[in-house]
Amino acid sequence: MQNIILIGPMGSGKTTVGKQLAKRLRLDFVDSDHMIEERCGVSISTIFDIEGEDGFRKRETKMLGELCEQNGIVLATGGGAITKEENRILLRKGYVIYLKTSIETQIARTQKNYNRPLLDNVDAEEKLRQLMEERGALYEQEADLVVVSGERIVSKVVDEIVEALDK
Ligand code: S3P
Repeated sequence: MQNIILIGPMGSGKTTVGKQLAKRLRLDFVDSDHMIEERCGVSISTIFDIEGEDGFRKRETKMLGELCEQNGIVLATGGGAITKEENRILLRKGYVIYLKTSIETQIARTQKNYNRPLLDNVDAEEKLRQLMEERGALYEQEADLVVVSGERIVSKVVDEIVEALDK
């Protein structure tokens, strides 16, 4: 069975939606960032501190390579996973779902989380807007399905995905 892959920006609900979706479909849920942290024994922020974004991206590509070898998992990717062609090729092996979200929702959802190094010491709103300008078209382009996430309750988002998968 193909993997179900969730893409979208920080704060789009990939982990929350992914967990519920996996439960509903009786599949395993895997979060790429979480797996990287487990493997390294430190947080994403610490990896950025020590190895910079480049170091993190190398680890991310390696992890995506391993995870995309598996079958029948629901995989939540990091918001920047689609920025590298190498990653996009890997993700295309699965059924890719873009969780589309407003900047306002992203801001609200990322506010209390300290493990998002790209938002440290910068104007978070400005950064999220800039990232969306750079990446928005890529999310759309890579998606087999686009689902509006955000203010909707998670179970409704999951309903919509399950319905689309059934078709
Ligand atoms: C990143 C998003 C993060 C994480 C890292 C970089 C990005 O994942 O991979 O901090 O480049 O947008 P989430 O989208 O799960 O927050």
